[in-house]
Amino acid sequence: MSKLKNKVAVITGGNSGIGFGIAQAFKNEGAKGAIIGRNQETLASAVAQLGNNFIAINADVTKVADLERVFKETSEKFGKIDVIVANAGGGAVGTVATIDEADYDKTMDLNLKSVYFTVQKGLPYINEGGSVILIGSNAAHRAYANFTLYGASKAAVIYFAKGFSSDLLDRKIRVNVITPGTTDTPAFEKFIPAEQIKAVKTQFASVMPTGRIGQPSDIGKTAVFLASDDSSFMLGAELLVDGGMTYLAN
Ligand SMILES: NC(=O)c1ccc[n+]([C@@H]2O[C@H](COP(=O)([O-])OP(=O)(O)OC[C@H]3O[C@@H](n4cnc5c(N)ncnc54)[C@H](OP(=O)(O)O)[C@@H]3O)[C@@H](O)[C@H]2O)c1
Repeated sequence: MSKLKNKVAVITGGNSGIGFGIAQAFKNEGAKGAIIGRNQETLASAVAQLGNNFIAINADVTKVADLERVFKETSEKFGKIDVIVANAGGGAVGTVATIDEADYDKTMDLNLKSVYFTVQKGLPYINEGGSVILIGSNAAHRAYANFTLYGASKAAVIYFAKGFSSDLLDRKIRVNVITPGTTDTPAFEKFIPAEQIKAVKTQFASVMPTGRIGQPSDIGKTAVFLASDDSSFMLGAELLVDGGMTYLAN
């Protein structure tokens, strides 16, 4: 398979979960590139699994100077950049009654500011005709308990795909967004006590129209499509990869 043969990608959060699933799918289609994260251990293990055509860069996507370094280093290593995946994200859970100013700022910095500046700092390096892929969430479309701020930040990311595509028309850079539903990643460990994780995943699967939650590979296959020339007529689009959760579940 070589849908992405010789394409160079930068994948933020490529050392875990959905980002790693995207990196593996890209690798399987002949791409090379850089994965970005802060955890040196998971960066090292992910890049070891991806092989010699990938590098790991330790950087904080909420810091603009780090993002400038990421694109400079990737471009110096591979000579060009064709695809940017702004995947790193997460943030505080809680309600409007509980999330304080510090957690508000952290969540918006990670989910919104980082996406804006990942794209902006990639612009001097990405080729004309390049593909930018953003990662939304179906929490932007349904009100889930405790995910109000997160959902709002992802609604803005979904808008960015349209706005950035319009801004970048003259360079023929396409920006699209993948909106995952509940996906089986280490993110669960950040919100749920270890002994409850299995039960919570089973509960999520039971309400999914497809009877299962998503896997990072489900998002990886969709990202391959958006990164490849097969999607050359798509820009500003949102692809919902949620097992039917958003519109079909009760
Ligand atoms: N899992 C789901 O059900 C789901 C559903 C919808 C949308 N999403 C979205 O999918 C994306 C990936 O989530 P996931 O579930 O795969 O979570 P995950 O396994 O926890 O991965 C999050 C990734 O983001 C990176 N990251 C976080 N903060 C960072 C920072 N300041 N600088 C650099 N990297 C940073 C992490 O790396 P380090 O820890 O090394 O920094 C990690 O690689 C997120 O945008 C999330 O909102 C997930």
